[in-house]
Amino acid sequence: MSFAPYDRPVRVAIVGLGRVYDLNVRAYLDNPDAEVVALVDPSEERRQQRQADWPGARTFASAAELAASGLEVDAVEALLPIPLHADGVVELLGYGWHVNLQKPMCNDLAGAARLLEAARASGRQLRVMENYVFYEPLRKLKETVESGELGEVSGYHMKMVASGRGGWDVPGSTYEWQFEQAQRGRGVLVFDDGWHKLATAIWLFGPIAEVRAWIGTTEVIPGIGVDAPSTLVFEHRNGIRGVLDITLAVDMYLRSDYYTNDERWEVTGRRGYARVNRCTGRGIQQPSLEVYLDGEMRSFHALDDDWASSFRDSGRHWLRWLHTGEGPLWWSGDEAVSVLRFALAAYASSAAGGAGVDPDTLE
Ligand SMILES: NC(=O)c1ccc[n+]([C@@H]2O[C@H](COP(=O)([O-])OP(=O)(O)OC[C@H]3O[C@@H](n4cnc5c(N)ncnc54)[C@H](O)[C@@H]3O)[C@@H](O)[C@H]2O)c1
Repeated sequence: MSFAPYDRPVRVAIVGLGRVYDLNVRAYLDNPDAEVVALVDPSEERRQQRQADWPGARTFASAAELAASGLEVDAVEALLPIPLHADGVVELLGYGWHVNLQKPMCNDLAGAARLLEAARASGRQLRVMENYVFYEPLRKLKETVESGELGEVSGYHMKMVASGRGGWDVPGSTYEWQFEQAQRGRGVLVFDDGWHKLATAIWLFGPIAEVRAWIGTTEVIPGIGVDAPSTLVFEHRNGIRGVLDITLAVDMYLRSDYYTNDERWEVTGRRGYARVNRCTGRGIQQPSLEVYLDGEMRSFHALDDDWASSFRDSGRHWLRWLHTGEGPLWWSGDEAVSVLRFALAAYASSAAGGAGVDPDTLE
């Protein structure tokens, strides 16, 4: 640990006040560990809208304006569009602020190296938050697997169906950043949403030894493609194999309070299996976790399966961590690089016709 933990509320600037702010902000509401002192976004409309949540915070059009203002800031909640992550976070760390960054960390290993170096040089902490590992049904799944009750793990799969209808509104400007990402070969389903699934894979079963992938594309409007169908198959260093299956159902309506993701995780052991039925959306209306053993199905009815709670708990974990410096960050900068390598290995494999790629060999 390269800093003294705080024994007072952490003074926070939220940088980027777009769609995901509505989720990340849940960690800050009624949290004595933090004081939101600044709101930063070039959009005046966004600044005005979010000021209603934090009447005492000062607003700025850029991080540079905030830095020049002399306002004391300890940490930043970085909710920037993905193409701005590398340069933007180097800037934030350079001002001497700890950074809690949204995923994906950045687009390539050169950008990741710059981020890690900026954190090292400033002596500040870089965290790449992963809210999925705070989703209670997934935590319970992990606990079930680790208890051994399913027997030795035989394999697992993760499923993501991106549906085109339902959920909350996503502004056109948010999609524009995503299209820019897609043009750089970093599609929304494999790289942006897929980041979460790859992160849960590493969290559940550890480092990845080999990835084989077939990344497809579907034109949704003329000239604009979405990166599905895509299939990623991988083996962990411990020999466990997993599959991530990504499909697009453009015309399917999915009930959701947030994005319209129909997601599942199913781990099969020698004796039984455990399945998380949903996460972001409300696809399967059964209890969010079911465990099958010896002819009986156990259903978990009382888990906090509101996806937004995972943002609340991830953010609270970070703010508490800044007070103690103890325990895992989920994720540290170095751990996030392992997720990035996993994704990049999938692209390398797909480009090579599905050949096996060891993420650690990528340069
Ligand atoms: N964990 C999740 O499940 C999840 C879900 C959605 C988005 N995200 C991530 O959150 C991040 C933001 O996504 P979003 O959907 O909120 O995007 P968005 O486009 O809705 O919001 C981005 C905001 O940043 C502002 N902005 C642009 N340039 C800026 C700058 N230089 N300084 C400060 N603000 C600037 C924009 O005006 C906008 O308000 C991305 O990294 C995305 O991948 C994560």
